[in-house]
Amino acid sequence: MKIATQAAQVGLDRETRTGAVTVPIYQTATFRHPGLGQSTGYDYARSGNPTREALEVGMATLDGGARGFAYASGMAAITSLMFLFRQGDHLVVTEDLYGGSYRLFEKLFQQFGLSFSYVDTSDLEAVRAALQPNTRALFVESLTNPLLKVADVAALAALCKDRGLLCIVDNTFLTPYLLRPLDLGADIAIYSGSKYLAGHNDTVCGLVTVKDPTLAELVYFHQNGAGAVLGPQDSWLTVRGIKTLHVRMDRQQENAQALATWLSSHPKVGKVYYPGLKDHPGHELMAERGTGFGAMIAFEVTEPELVNQLLMKTQLISFAESLGGVESLITFPQVQTHADIEPETLKRLGINHLLLRLSVGIEDKDDLIADLAQAFEGD
Ligand SMILES: Cc1ncc(COP(=O)(O)O)c(C=O)c1O
Repeated sequence: MKIATQAAQVGLDRETRTGAVTVPIYQTATFRHPGLGQSTGYDYARSGNPTREALEVGMATLDGGARGFAYASGMAAITSLMFLFRQGDHLVVTEDLYGGSYRLFEKLFQQFGLSFSYVDTSDLEAVRAALQPNTRALFVESLTNPLLKVADVAALAALCKDRGLLCIVDNTFLTPYLLRPLDLGADIAIYSGSKYLAGHNDTVCGLVTVKDPTLAELVYFHQNGAGAVLGPQDSWLTVRGIKTLHVRMDRQQENAQALATWLSSHPKVGKVYYPGLKDHPGHELMAERGTGFGAMIAFEVTEPELVNQLLMKTQLISFAESLGGVESLITFPQVQTHADIEPETLKRLGINHLLLRLSVGIEDKDDLIADLAQAFEGD
């Protein structure tokens, strides 16, 4: 089946007692045992809950994985994946990654003896050069945050296979609708489901899919052992969000393309980063590997004062963190999402005092452009 069909049918229940079409919210912590040594398949909700399972099975289907796992947040999902590593292990990581992931690696996992090298993962040679004898994995954002660099997941996965490394792809910005990392050879895909998958700026959740059943068993062991699972209500909201993923994404991408084109010719805008623009360095690769360019745009304004002006004067577009929901949001990465990265690194990467990030929603594109236009004009 095509992914649009799979998405629409996620969580469709085959429950026979009532015939309910959508999976019920099983708001229970525990499950009755039918007899001594017997189980319905559910014992305690941290280990398994039918609503969460509907989401997990749905994600595995969308990504072509052996199993899917749902966590309390994207960060909880990444934390759980770090249990795959041991003291002394080294990981090669995308350099302009989400600031929260950087903080987790540097401020939390480094103290347990893991080490991380940050490189431009859109540059295969840079990745190869960063490998060390103790490297165990590559952790790569398929489309980076906020500079929208495109990683060649197929080539990186082949390199990992060759060197016996795990290939973990944070595919938050693209979702399985636009790129399926496991099909391209990655071992694990991770998502902040709080973004496009749940899709309505109303739920925080994390999702993981795993290609190999044996590795999936281990990931399950860690999920259950550490216990940062997603609750039934949020699992249900995420299932409901996923059903319209493709419809929302199509509209968001159409809007993003229009906004990026408009921004590119605005006199108060410098660089525009959007992979759907033909002059974006990752445009061709993305067209080849995936099925779209996503709906995130980063752009530089020409004067520092314009940053505050845009954040304060946009009325339709909310000044808020996060991304991927139906409502458009604007943020200032240098002081918000990427505040935990050292200033020199931010400067070198180009995450500077002029850079703004737009998460384009499903509103009418003319209204979005009009909102930006009036904000640029000021008083
Ligand atoms: C690319 C990426 N990965 C992971 C995360 C973390 O996810 P969460 O906020 O759901 O914990 C985010 C959050 O913004 C993100 O943008």
